[in-house]
Amino acid sequence: MKSISIITINKTPKKTMNQGGSRGKRSVLKRRLIVCLKVILAITVFSLYVAVLLRESLQAMEEGKARMTSRIAKTSHRTAKILIHHTLKSTTNHSVAISHPTKPTTLNPIYEYSEEVNAAAEKDFAARKNHLWDTCIRRGMVGVYPPNAWEFFISPGHGLAWCNVFKAASSSWMYYFNILGGYNLAYLQRTKTSPLELARQRFPRPTLPELADSLANSISFLIVREPFERLLSAYRNKIEGFRNKYYKILAEQIVKKYRKTPKTKDSSGPTFKEFLTYLIHHYKSGNRFDEHWSPIYSFCTPCSINYTLIAKVETFQRDTEYIIRQAGLESLLLNKLPNKKIRAISNRSTSDTRHLIPKYFGQIDAQTLDQILEIYEPDFELFGYNFTKYYELIDQN
Ligand SMILES: *[C@@H]1O[C@H](CO)[C@@H](O)[C@H](O)[C@H]1NC(C)=O
Ligand SMILES: *[C@@H]1O[C@H](CO)[C@@H](O)[C@H](O)[C@H]1NC(C)=O
Ligand SMILES: *[C@@H]1O[C@H](CO)[C@@H](O)[C@H](O)[C@H]1NC(C)=O
Ligand SMILES: *[C@@H]1O[C@H](CO)[C@@H](O)[C@H](O)[C@H]1NC(C)=O
Repeated sequence: MKSISIITINKTPKKTMNQGGSRGKRSVLKRRLIVCLKVILAITVFSLYVAVLLRESLQAMEEGKARMTSRIAKTSHRTAKILIHHTLKSTTNHSVAISHPTKPTTLNPIYEYSEEVNAAAEKDFAARKNHLWDTCIRRGMVGVYPPNAWEFFISPGHGLAWCNVFKAASSSWMYYFNILGGYNLAYLQRTKTSPLELARQRFPRPTLPELADSLANSISFLIVREPFERLLSAYRNKIEGFRNKYYKILAEQIVKKYRKTPKTKDSSGPTFKEFLTYLIHHYKSGNRFDEHWSPIYSFCTPCSINYTLIAKVETFQRDTEYIIRQAGLESLLLNKLPNKKIRAISNRSTSDTRHLIPKYFGQIDAQTLDQILEIYEPDFELFGYNFTKYYELIDQN
């Protein structure tokens, strides 16, 4: 609007000049008017600029405050790490005391975070860790798989080290890391750049010494998920129906190689059984798995890294809020997920996959299940999931 008004004003005086000197006084008046308008415009632009600057510095101040809280919480966290087995109770009170004054907000308006929830989370985290290490020892898996530093997202400034398990609520934490990386929320919601790419610009892939260094000073965590729900979710998202253009070539190869009657034209892509057969062969030939279906025991190597916290998709909201509070990042991260994401992490989408489990596993036979369990059984056991029900779901013929 403003630029248009400048253009029209500038045109008018030229016309009047051409019409002769009798209107000299008027033209002087007009020139003054123009100067006046220009000054007003300049003042407007300048004050807008100042307002923007002010907002940014306020934001920076808030972030600084958040970082302070984070530092305090980290100190408490280090204590927690050492004392976790002895004085669970007192660390609970400690962390609650720190997190409460900041903001009584929650991750999801439906979800009520309370001291009881916090205590239950703490108990679960301790139990998961004990169970994990007992299992690692019993199965002789301690230190067997070398850590994949490559797959971590580390934010030393916020005291977080995350091993990103694909297909296990990873997009939500990617979003959080992008906030921690300093991207503006509005930008994150409208950008077409992939969240992973954005995050890697701010959190480049660490080296092993960098990972080791950060593990000593951060809350390290991973998010696990029922292994076959994760696998089915990966299949439906990447392979089924040739829907994913990046996986189309692989999907076509699977059909070509594993379909008994490859002549039948079928646009629905590899069946679940064909996909599993491919995985079994791929595994037996010792090839690397794609990150979307790589077993967690070899991808995030929980028996080689002493993670501070093992979170689960099944208790995602509670576990995530616990991690955020432990890291002292409430004001930066709580209530920051867009509604679209909240819906995706609430029960619906994970239960969608869960409801489809009988349908897809009804298509496979006992031998395929045995072989696919050979690959994923450690994930079931390490993270306390039970695979017995799959033998009741399979095709019994
Ligand atoms: C992991 O770390 C905790 C405390 O930091 C310690 O108590 C525990 O023994 C460690 N576990 C293993 C298996 O190293
Ligand atoms: C922790 O808090 C509970 C109540 O929330 C209280 O009964 C208990 O005495 C506290 N423990 C410590 C060590 O402060
Ligand atoms: C999710 O499921 C649990 C139990 O199945 C229920 O208590 C909770 O209200 C559900 N949450 C949402 C957001 O639907
Ligand atoms: C899994 O659940 C079945 C009952 O559904 C039970 O018999 C079995 O012991 C459980 N397995 C493990 C490893 O807990």
